[in-house]
Amino acid sequence: MEYIQSKKYDFEDVNGMTLKQLNQHYKLYEGYVNKVNEIWTILNENKLYENPNPTLSDTRSLMLGQSYAVDGVKLHELYFSNLGGGNNMPYGDILNEIQKKYGSYEFFKERFKNIGLSMRGWVVLSIDPLDNNLHIYGLDAHDVGTVLMSYPLLVMDVYEHAYMIDFGIDRKKYIDVFIENINWDIVNERLSNYKKTNRDFPRKYRCISDKINIKKTYGWANYCKD
Ligand SMILES: [Fe+2]
Repeated sequence: MEYIQSKKYDFEDVNGMTLKQLNQHYKLYEGYVNKVNEIWTILNENKLYENPNPTLSDTRSLMLGQSYAVDGVKLHELYFSNLGGGNNMPYGDILNEIQKKYGSYEFFKERFKNIGLSMRGWVVLSIDPLDNNLHIYGLDAHDVGTVLMSYPLLVMDVYEHAYMIDFGIDRKKYIDVFIENINWDIVNERLSNYKKTNRDFPRKYRCISDKINIKKTYGWANYCKD
C-alpha cells in the first residue's frame, strides 16, 4: 500500500553542489518513503506479534524502523525545500528572531556551523513552544536528538552522504556552501505558519502545568488568570 509519495524538488537552483550529489541524496530519501509505506502496510494489518521484548523482537524492530523512516522522510523534505532558490541572507521576521536570540546573524551562523561539525546527522533550527523562542537542536540520527513538538524552521543534513561526492570529507566546506544556499523565504514562511498556529501555546502549556500545582516553583501564576 502507498500511504505517502516522494515529493519533487528542483535542484537546478542550488549553487556549489552537483546534480549528481543531490540526485544521489534524493534517491536515499525515496528509500525512506518506500520504507514508511512498507512499515505502515505491515502495522496496518493489525497483527499482534508474539514474544514482545525490548532487546529483540518483531514489534521492537517495527517501532525502531518506523520512527527512523518517518523522521527520515520529514527531515529530508524540510532539508530539500530550504536548500536553494532563495535569498541567501536572512531578512524579515526570522532575522529579528535570530538577532533577538543570538545577538547577530554572524554569531548565529558560527554557532550553527559549530553544531554542524559536532553532530552526526542533522542540525535543526526550531522555534520551541516551550518558551516561544529559537533553539538549535543537534541530531545524531533521524530519531536520535529529535525534540517533540518543536517546530523546525531550518534543517541541515550533515550525514556524509549529503556531501561526500562533492566535498569528500570536507564537511566544513559543505556547510559553508549549504549556508550560502539557504532559502530564507521558506524559513520565514515556516516561522509565519508557526506564529499563526501556535501563538497561544506557551501560555496554555503553562496553565496546564499550573493546574498540576507547579506554579509556585516556576512563577507562572499570571499566565492563567483568564
Ligand atoms: Fe540525508
